[in-house]
Amino acid sequence: MFDINQIRKDTPASQQLIHFNNAGASLNPSVVIQKVKDYLDLEAQIGGYEVERLHQNDIKAFYTEMARLIHAEPHNIAFATSCTDAYARALSSMPFKSGDVILTSDDDYASNQLCFLSLQNRVGVRVVRAKNFDNGDMDVADVERIIKTEHPSVVAITHIPTSSGKMQPVAEIGQLCRQYDVWYLVDACQSIGQMPIDVQSIGCDFLTATGRKFLRAPRGTGFLFVSDKALEAGFSPLYFDNHSGNWTGKDSYTMQASALRFELYERSLATVLGITEAVRYACAIGLDNIWAYNQDLAQYFRQELQNTEGVTLYDEGSQLCNIITFRMGHKPLEVIQSALNAARINHSVTMKKMAQIDFDRKGIDWALRFSPHYYNTKEEVDKVIEVLRAI
Ligand SMILES: Cc1ncc(COP(=O)(O)O)c(C=O)c1O
Repeated sequence: MFDINQIRKDTPASQQLIHFNNAGASLNPSVVIQKVKDYLDLEAQIGGYEVERLHQNDIKAFYTEMARLIHAEPHNIAFATSCTDAYARALSSMPFKSGDVILTSDDDYASNQLCFLSLQNRVGVRVVRAKNFDNGDMDVADVERIIKTEHPSVVAITHIPTSSGKMQPVAEIGQLCRQYDVWYLVDACQSIGQMPIDVQSIGCDFLTATGRKFLRAPRGTGFLFVSDKALEAGFSPLYFDNHSGNWTGKDSYTMQASALRFELYERSLATVLGITEAVRYACAIGLDNIWAYNQDLAQYFRQELQNTEGVTLYDEGSQLCNIITFRMGHKPLEVIQSALNAARINHSVTMKKMAQIDFDRKGIDWALRFSPHYYNTKEEVDKVIEVLRAI
C-alpha cells in the first residue's frame, strides 16, 4: 500500500532536510539501517564467520528477493559491490578480440564508456554508437542497421543515463538482440527501484545495478543478473576466487553453475542483508505504485521549473523519468548551490566529464540534477522552486 505519511515516518531524515539526490544515493528506510546495524553488532559480539553461519537463510534471501524484483530466478543473481563492479565482471566474461565491435549509445554511462575505451586500447575492439533522433530518442532502426552491418559481439545500453531524464528503449533493443542473436548488456543503475524492471521483457543477457540509488539500499551494494543462456554458454569472469570457482587439482578448476560464478566471497554481509531488506521494502509498497507516484512528482517538478524565469530544462526524449536536469540563465553555480544548501536541499551537479557527448551537443559544461523519489512531496518541490525564484 502507498501511504506517504508512513513512508516519510520510515525515512526519519525527510523531517530534517529535503533530499532530491536519489540518483546519487537515496535515504535508506529505517528498517534497512536497523538490519545492517544489528548484523554488525552481532559480528562484534560473536565473530564474522560465526554470524555468517547463523544467517545462512537471510543471506540466501538476497537471491530470492532480488530475483522476485526483476522477474528472474535466484540462480541468475550475483551480489556486486556497485554497478560498475557488476559491469566490469560482465564485460570481463566476454572473450573480446581485435576488431570485435561493441555497440552502444551516446548516452551510456561514463564509466561504461571508459571500460569500452580501455578494451579499445588494450584489445583493439571498436566502439560504435547508434544515433539519436533530434528529440534525443535513440534511433532503434540505426541499432538494427549497425547490428546487420557490423555484427557486434555485444550491445551495451544504459537504460537511464546519469545526466538527463531520458529513458532508452531497452526492451525494443532487446527484441533486436534476440532476433539477431547478439549478447545484450543493460545498465539499469538508475532505473532499479525507480520503476518496475522485468528482465524477461527487456530480454537482456546481463543487467547491472547499484543498491544505493532509487532502491534505497546501503552504499557498497549492487547486483548482476546473468541469463540462463549466458550461463549455459559458459560466460565467466576473467578473475575470480574460490567462491566463484573450485580449484579441483594442480591445473584444473570448475566454475559455479549459477551466477555465483560472478561473485566474490568477501563482501559485507551486513549490507547484503541491508539490500535484501530494501528490496522487500520497495516490493511491499509496490513498484507500480512507486512509478506512478514518481511520474506524477517529476511531471509537477518539471512544470514548476518551466514556470520559473531563467530556467532551461535539459531533459530530452519522449519518455522521461525522475532525473531532472536544468540550468538557471547565467546565474553562477556557486550562488545557486549556496542558496540550496542554506535551505538544506540536497541536490547534485552533473559535470561534462560524466556526459561528454550529451553535454557537448547541448553546449553546456554542467547541469543541476534533481532526482525526486516516492518519499518526496510536492510541498518539497514548492520549497525548491521558492528558493530558486528568490536567487
Ligand atoms: C547510469 C549509471 N550507471 C552506472 C553508474 C555507476 O554506479 P556505481 O557507482 O554503483 O558503480 C551510475 C552512477 O551514477 C549511473 O548513473
